[in-house]
Amino acid sequence: MESSVLLGDCLTILQTLNDNSIDVIYLDPPFFSQKNYAMNTSEGKKYVFSDKWENPSAYKDFMKNRIKECYRVLKDTGSIFLHCDTSASHFLRSILDEIFSPNNFLNEIIWTYKRWSNSKKGLLSCHQTIFFYTKSKNYTFNKLLGEYSPTTNLDQILQERTRNEVNKSSYKKDENGNVVNTTQKKGVPLSDVWNIPFLNPKAKERTGYPTQKPLELLERIIKISSNEGDIILDPFCGSGTSLVAAKILNRNFIGIDNSKEAVTITQNRLNNPIKSESQLLKKGNSSFMTLSPEKMDILRQFNAKPVYRNKGLDGLINDFENDRIIALKIQDSDEDLYESAQKLDYAKNKRNLDLGILLQTHSDIQLLGISDKNIFPGIKIIKSYKFFLNQLILDNFDDTNKFSL
Ligand SMILES: C[S@@+](CC[C@H](N)C(=O)[O-])C[C@H]1O[C@@H](n2cnc3c(N)ncnc32)[C@H](O)[C@@H]1O
Repeated sequence: MESSVLLGDCLTILQTLNDNSIDVIYLDPPFFSQKNYAMNTSEGKKYVFSDKWENPSAYKDFMKNRIKECYRVLKDTGSIFLHCDTSASHFLRSILDEIFSPNNFLNEIIWTYKRWSNSKKGLLSCHQTIFFYTKSKNYTFNKLLGEYSPTTNLDQILQERTRNEVNKSSYKKDENGNVVNTTQKKGVPLSDVWNIPFLNPKAKERTGYPTQKPLELLERIIKISSNEGDIILDPFCGSGTSLVAAKILNRNFIGIDNSKEAVTITQNRLNNPIKSESQLLKKGNSSFMTLSPEKMDILRQFNAKPVYRNKGLDGLINDFENDRIIALKIQDSDEDLYESAQKLDYAKNKRNLDLGILLQTHSDIQLLGISDKNIFPGIKIIKSYKFFLNQLILDNFDDTNKFSL
């Protein structure tokens, strides 16, 4: 089957597809948010779609008719992933049960991400739901492995287990009594909670289409449920995220949307698939922990709260006595003191803090000649401190104040 992107109501188009012809269906329909979505892109384009309904019944009927068609076109080995949120997840789960049978419910995937907002009274909503049903018990499923948690005992990962004479689990040993390591364990089975960042406003893959989902999410869905050459169908394809993921993973696809702009964006994306790299996903949570162990050690000694990914600041000190917060920076090895003070000064002023402490880590020539000038009022420099056998030694803690008033 040829891959295609089709313009029209998905119900009408689904009705033209053959029975048992599709391997995986991913639907990201209107969520019953009772909102109109609009977004202006930097190139001045406007994308809109409506998610307003007369009443819940109108929405339920709309979804039921389309899910029924999805069931018909899905192969017996196929799976369906229905993306929704708390606005209608309760309706949709019962529609899926009715059409697919509760026996074919496989997972409720929670897609979770970080958001910063404090606008409403109640808990901040940080997830969406993807219902995963199959058409029969004979479904395609590829196991993916997730990362071990940082607290996992490494020995337990590496050492092979066996049952002893009394059927108790124990480490397997060779004839010399040495524990046998396994090469098998490379991760834990993927759980149903997926922590994948929302596309940030500057992400390379962002098209400007409202409600665009991250490629990483769709790639994961497609990988677990299909093989190369399979057909992926997305009846509400929007900006075409699932189809781009399918293309990257060498699957065939059919995308449908009743918005002309959506179809155009999808076609453009398919011609030039771009994926943003998430540092969080690549390196795990540690990607944000950019401070060296030495710096962390110093911050601990100052009782400072670490500040990550900031060139002018490494920590903040709560000065309870004077009811203020002090900015702290540790001079980097590639910075001269002037440069460090300049960065700290900028970061401190940006946050309206009146005192900054700069810890000097090495001497530099630049310092000569400017040391007596009051170039950066409000910055106190602590000089001549060094590490010795991992221990911080601060000498002359109080003596220097070269740039301060
Ligand atoms: C939530 S968005 C999909 C976003 C998409 N997953 C992405 O990553 O860009 C829902 C899409 O459904 C489309 N839509 C709404 N009603 C439709 C219908 N009856 N038939 C086909 N598409 C429809 C809208 O135009 C919108 O693009």
